[in-house]
Amino acid sequence: MRYTLLLLSLLLHVSLSHPIRSAFPSRTQKSHAVPLHTPGMVVNCTEYFFEQQIDHFAPSPGTYQQRYFVNSEYYTPGGPMFFYLGNEADVTLYVNATGLIWENAEEFGALIVFAEHRYYGVSQLFPEDPLSNLQYLSTEQALMDYVTLISTLKSTYSFSSTDSVIGFGGSYGGMLASWARMKYPHVWDGAIAGSAPIVSFEDMTPGVDPNFYAEGVTYDVTTAAGASEFCEANLRKAFADTALTTLDPSTLRSALQLCDDDDTSDDDIGWSATFWLNEALSYMAMGNFPYPSTYILNGDGVLPAFPVRVACEYLSEDLTRDDKIDEWLIGLSNFAGVYYNYTSTLTCNKLSSPVNRESEIVNTLWNYQYCSQIFQLFGQGDDESDMFWDAPWDGDASAQSCVESNGIYPDRSHFALSYGNKADWAREASNIVWSQGEYDPWRGGGVQEDLNDSLIAVVIGEAAHHLDLFFSHEGDTDEVIAARKLEMDNVRKWIREKRGN
Ligand SMILES: *[C@@H]1O[C@H](CO)[C@@H](O)[C@H](O)[C@H]1NC(C)=O
Ligand SMILES: *[C@@H]1O[C@H](CO)[C@@H](O)[C@H](O)[C@H]1NC(C)=O
Ligand SMILES: *[C@@H]1O[C@H](CO)[C@@H](O)[C@H](O)[C@H]1NC(C)=O
Ligand SMILES: *[C@@H]1O[C@H](CO)[C@@H](O)[C@H](O)[C@H]1NC(C)=O
Repeated sequence: MRYTLLLLSLLLHVSLSHPIRSAFPSRTQKSHAVPLHTPGMVVNCTEYFFEQQIDHFAPSPGTYQQRYFVNSEYYTPGGPMFFYLGNEADVTLYVNATGLIWENAEEFGALIVFAEHRYYGVSQLFPEDPLSNLQYLSTEQALMDYVTLISTLKSTYSFSSTDSVIGFGGSYGGMLASWARMKYPHVWDGAIAGSAPIVSFEDMTPGVDPNFYAEGVTYDVTTAAGASEFCEANLRKAFADTALTTLDPSTLRSALQLCDDDDTSDDDIGWSATFWLNEALSYMAMGNFPYPSTYILNGDGVLPAFPVRVACEYLSEDLTRDDKIDEWLIGLSNFAGVYYNYTSTLTCNKLSSPVNRESEIVNTLWNYQYCSQIFQLFGQGDDESDMFWDAPWDGDASAQSCVESNGIYPDRSHFALSYGNKADWAREASNIVWSQGEYDPWRGGGVQEDLNDSLIAVVIGEAAHHLDLFFSHEGDTDEVIAARKLEMDNVRKWIREKRGN
């Protein structure tokens, strides 16, 4: 399937900035006891703008205003700067969600800074035409923005040469934090990188399994991950056997309760339904947290604790036989409903929701980043280790589809060439903690073992996408509590070492 690549390339971005499903009916009827909009941490910050070069590496055509947030309430001279490297969304999302920074600032006497990534949120280079001149959208330009901002803040707050700056980031932000520490060790004294798939590229040695994402998703629906016994088998029928594509469209429409005005054509409906199901699974896998959470729904609603397990309850019997087809379809519809029907008020399903303008912009930006630099491996199905149809990674074909969709040929080995591979990092890098969540499909694209005594990896059992960066919660497992402690113990050590004691 050609559009696998595009859909999957969007996943890293959607993991943090969920496309707003405003087209779905009834989302204003909120039937949850949990407050859906808990007050965010933005109110605890001051918003600033910093004038940055549009181009840091060649004569710049001008400057732009980069947004950042600061809280200096806990800062004591001599304390560190906790600097969040913004990723592909409005930075207030990270300001509100990154409890690890907020909960530790006082003890460390830290200055808190959250910087927005160029082209995202309100940090627009060309505000009147946000999607023009995308050539300045690169990881190098974004890092240089952060370097420049930090340099100014250090002087504003009179940082001494032995005061530390610690980078924090999740997902793509964790990749940026890792690269920041590797490339600019004089700027960042250490980095906490949550769920950062920094080895998910071509030409890394040793190479990562190109099917890692598909395998990660598959793992979540197995009994090993706490899912019901037949969940995987029932989903394999949809994915590996692509059974939905062989069914009569009218059967599908009624069993999946599609809305009368759903305009998916009969030709497309089987694949659309397959992707619709896969999308629900993918989000629930990233958001497979041990307690009810609003994060994956971007504050618009609550997913239950371990949503994949909850969804799998609808597929707990073997429904793969031909005489069970109706029950199987209803099971799939209910499975996906745990995600799409989070308000419990949907009267019908829509296979594709009209995307709003903001998420359309973000999708375009992320696609550009994917097709220019962040060319991650997405293969599936060529062996039994995942439950999807055959679409093994084909770098040439994927690169060609970038040429067709975006008119650009990816710099395929960009990160392998720029930063080297794990063996290089073990020799030359230091002061990074990488965390992975057992249930996060991105886990296999990240570092999962210690590389050196200051390059630490922690795989957090029963956690999903960067749970460790969030605020503490009564539903936290011992493992995530221990991971946060390990992270902050390392931060403390890096700060002490910088001071020379
Ligand atoms: C963050 O919290 C503020 C309130 O402080 C709220 O206005 C804003 O919408 C929140 N941002 C996101 C992306 O959730
Ligand atoms: C954020 O601000 C609120 C209201 O002023 C205050 O109650 C709360 O303690 C602050 N939280 C943090 C982590 O600074
Ligand atoms: C959404 O959930 C409610 C409550 O469980 C249910 O009655 C309704 O049929 C569901 N909608 C869809 C489209 O599955
Ligand atoms: C880890 O890397 C650092 C930074 O280069 C180096 O100083 C240290 O010796 C390495 N440690 C080990 C155990 O290899």
